[in-house]
Amino acid sequence: MSPKKRGKIAVLISGRGSNFKALHDAIRTGKMNAEMALVFSNKEDAPGLGIARQRGLETLYLNPKLFTSREDYDKAVIHQIRKRDIDLICLAGYMRVLTPLFCQQFKHRIMNIHPALLPSFPGLHVQQKAIDWGVRFSGATVHFVSEEVDMGPIILQAVVPVLQDDTEETLAARILVEEHKIYPEAARLFFEGRLEIRGRKVFIR
Ligand code: GRF
Repeated sequence: MSPKKRGKIAVLISGRGSNFKALHDAIRTGKMNAEMALVFSNKEDAPGLGIARQRGLETLYLNPKLFTSREDYDKAVIHQIRKRDIDLICLAGYMRVLTPLFCQQFKHRIMNIHPALLPSFPGLHVQQKAIDWGVRFSGATVHFVSEEVDMGPIILQAVVPVLQDDTEETLAARILVEEHKIYPEAARLFFEGRLEIRGRKVFIR
């Protein structure tokens, strides 16, 4: 997008929302020229929604049980996003796999943060998987979302050492610190119009 326009961002969450907070903090402190136009959740009690309300942000919850299919649910979410003229959608602990329809509607405009060095350890509980595998390094990845889960073009990564006495919790906590740095950075690069996707590679201009 044009670096001059003030972009609009929607964050989709299902839980605690610390990455949403990091993104919003980057906006509040003037590090990113964007407006957080929507914080959306599929979970009514997501703690992140409460934080968003305290910060005076627009929030929305849609109950998946009221929809007959995943596609119908995503159509409703797409409608809400289109209504607000959103430029960038950030998945931040959003525990639903997006339908192909959703991915196609916003091609190269959806990002996700993943707590491992993709393409190693896609999926869930990846900090424990990294420990169990015995890797010396793990980390965090921000990538564009494609239809294949956790496999879209990689934007930024941060490396975190795995220590001998790490537990899932201690490793997750150290990775999270890096997540909070690289997610706002990736979004900033997007809003500055500096991300160029060629095939499955992202070039930073
Ligand atoms: C983070 O570890 C993120 O990498 C993963 O889900 C977790 C969300 O945490 N996708 P939070 O809700 O942003 O605190």
